Amino acid sequence: MRFLMIDIHSHILPGVDDGSCDLENSISMAKQAVVQGIHSVIATPHHENGKFTNEIEFVELRVKLFREELEKRNIPLCVLAGQEVRVYRGLIEDIEAKKTSTLNGSRYMLLELPSDRISIGTHELLHELSLMNIVPIIAHPERNREIAENPLKLLELIQLGALSQITAHSLIGSFGKSIQTFSLDLCKNHLSHFISSDAHNTTNRAFALAGAYDILQEKLGIDLVNTFQNNANSIIHDLEIERYQPVWGKPKWFQFWKSNK
Ligand SMILES: [Fe+2]
Repeated sequence: MRFLMIDIHSHILPGVDDGSCDLENSISMAKQAVVQGIHSVIATPHHENGKFTNEIEFVELRVKLFREELEKRNIPLCVLAGQEVRVYRGLIEDIEAKKTSTLNGSRYMLLELPSDRISIGTHELLHELSLMNIVPIIAHPERNREIAENPLKLLELIQLGALSQITAHSLIGSFGKSIQTFSLDLCKNHLSHFISSDAHNTTNRAFALAGAYDILQEKLGIDLVNTFQNNANSIIHDLEIERYQPVWGKPKWFQFWKSNK
């Protein structure tokens, strides 16, 4: 275990969404996170994704209760409050009404697109968020069909001020070779800025952060690992993220993949 890691995207809270189903499962997840070398986790229940609504005040209350349980059981994991916010009509109004918020009260909001497209109005939304000094982090762009078909769409969002987060399971290959290769290319080309677990349970969607960082180090080097880990640290302390010029030069494998679709 080389790192003390921070995870900015997880569904560890018991019984609030499609993540952990109950307290004992959440405790098992917490223990698994500690074994991996994770010291802080932001709990990001789904919010307004069409199935689940978890307003920030409710999330904060559930985080407080869960922290008390962890303390009782001497599990050294710091859990912080956030939301995985789906792009939805009324998002700006809900931020003003303090129903929808950022990661640990920072300037950074975890923003989820539909899986098949970039919603109409996303560019305008990014502009409105920037006027509120909120920086969106696009969750798992590597699993969005429109972005996979044309990564320049993600480049546009990054150029409009967004950041993006790759899911650990994509990097370790759980979603297949093409998503793994695509994820590595997004990381390499500064189109992604974080890796996080998006953990839902202790089995097929577990905390796979250590393995993902191992792959990142093996394929792209320790400097990028350090950059990503510093970025995660900047989220929980609300610090500026260092940005590098994003590029997309269509690697050879991508042209081959496109021509064989
Ligand atoms: Fe998630």
